[in-house]
Amino acid sequence: MKVLVIGSGGREHAIVLGLLKSPKVTELWCAPGNGGISAVAHTAPINVMDKEGMVAFAKEKGIEFAVVAPDDPLAAGMADAMEEAGIPAFGPSAKAAQIEASKVFSKNLMKKYGIPTAAYETFEDEDAAIAYLKAQNSYPAVIKADGLALGKGVIIAANEAEAVEAVHEMMSEGKFGDSGRRVVIEEFLTGPEVSVLSFTDGKTVVPMISSKDHKRANDNDEGLNTGGMGTIAPNPFYTPEVAAECMEKIFLPTIDAMNKEGRTFKGCLYFGLMITPKGPKVIEYNCRFGDPETQVVLPLLKSDLLEIMMAVQAGRLSEVPVEFSDETAACVVMASGGYPVKYQSGYEITGLDEKGQAEGVTVYHAGTKLVDGKFVTAGGRVLGVTATGKTLDEALSRAYAGVEKIHFTDVHYRHDIGRTK
Ligand code: AMP
Ligand code: GLY
Repeated sequence: MKVLVIGSGGREHAIVLGLLKSPKVTELWCAPGNGGISAVAHTAPINVMDKEGMVAFAKEKGIEFAVVAPDDPLAAGMADAMEEAGIPAFGPSAKAAQIEASKVFSKNLMKKYGIPTAAYETFEDEDAAIAYLKAQNSYPAVIKADGLALGKGVIIAANEAEAVEAVHEMMSEGKFGDSGRRVVIEEFLTGPEVSVLSFTDGKTVVPMISSKDHKRANDNDEGLNTGGMGTIAPNPFYTPEVAAECMEKIFLPTIDAMNKEGRTFKGCLYFGLMITPKGPKVIEYNCRFGDPETQVVLPLLKSDLLEIMMAVQAGRLSEVPVEFSDETAACVVMASGGYPVKYQSGYEITGLDEKGQAEGVTVYHAGTKLVDGKFVTAGGRVLGVTATGKTLDEALSRAYAGVEKIHFTDVHYRHDIGRTK
C-alpha cells in the first residue's frame, strides 16, 4: 500500500518507522517531513494546513491510506478532506477534534457526562474572570486559553497578581490570538501525571502502554512548560487498579459521550491524566498521538501499526491484535539552547550516521534538515533519542549513552528523565 503521513516532528518520525515495519507498506510518503524522515521515506514540502494541496498530492501519488498526525490540521478538517476525496484516513474529523481544539468544549463535555476532571468555570469577559478569581481567592489558580496554543496556553498562577496578568494577556492583549478570547479557570490538582494514548474507532477503545512526559524545560521540573523534554513508558504510577478505574470512569464514558454528541471519535485519543488523592482525573484530551510520548510507545508496539490504523478507520478495531512488549522505553529530547522561547537554528549535528541514527538507540528527528548531506538543527526540539531495555534503568542508561554521542552547538537536554514525579 502507498501510505502518506502528514506532519514533520519526532512523533511523525516514530509513526513512519512504525509503519515501515508493516509488510503491507510498499511506498511511504511524509509531508512535509524533516531531515531524519527523508532518510527513510519520501518527503514532499506541503504545508500541513494546505488541505487542497495535500489532497491533490495524495491523488497524484496514488496514496491509498493517509495518517494525519498533528492537532492543527485535524482541527481544520484534514482527515475529512482526505475521506471526501476517497482516501481513507487515520485521524478524527474536525468535529471530533474539538475535544482538543476547545477546552471549553472538552470541559463542558466532561461536566455533562460526569467524567472526573478539575472543577472549573469558563469566561468570555475579562472583568467576570477577574471577579471570579478574586472571589475564589484560591492559589495556585489554573488559567487555560480555550484554543490550541502549542502546549503553552496553560498558566499556573501562584497569586492574584499573576492570575490577573495571565487573564489580561490572554483576553485583552491577544497573547494566544483567538485561542485566548475565551478562558477556563480551574481548580489546581496535585498528583503524578500519566499520558495514556488509545486507539479507538468509536466503538472499541484500546489503551496503549502508558507513558510519562517531562514537560518542564529544566532539571528538577524547573523552568517553562515545553511540548515535552523526554518520556518513559510504561508509567510506574499507572497501576492495573488505576488502569481499570480509568477504563470504567474515563475512557469508555468519553467514547460514549462523543457518540452521543454526534462527534464519534476515530483515531488516537490521548488522555492526559492526573492521579489525584481522589482518583484519576482528566487534565486534558488530545485528538492525536503525543509528542514525545509516541517515541516511547510505538517502539514497544509488537502488532502491525498499519493494520491497527486501517481497522480504526474502518470501524473494526475489535478484530485486530494490539500488543505491546513488556520492556521499558525512555526518550531524551535534545533541544536547541533557549527553547521554548528563543533559539538559533542551522547548526550541524555530529555523531549521526547517514540515516540520521546512532548506535544502540533510535534517533527520532523532530527539528532537523538535511543540507548537502549533513543534518542541521531546524527547530526547538531537535532530536528524541530513544532506547529500550528490560528495566527503566537499562533503557535510561542506553538512551543517555546515545545522547552523549551526538553533538550540536548550544544543545540543551534534561539529565533527569525518568527520575522525577
Ligand atoms: P495541559 O496543556 O492542559 O495538559 O496543561 C499543561 C500542564 O499544566 C499539565 O501537564 C499539568 O502539569 C498542568 N496543569 C493543567 N491543569 C492543571 C490543574 N488543574 N491542576 C494542576 N496542574 C495542571
Ligand atoms: N507531550 C504532550 C503532547 O503531545 O501534547
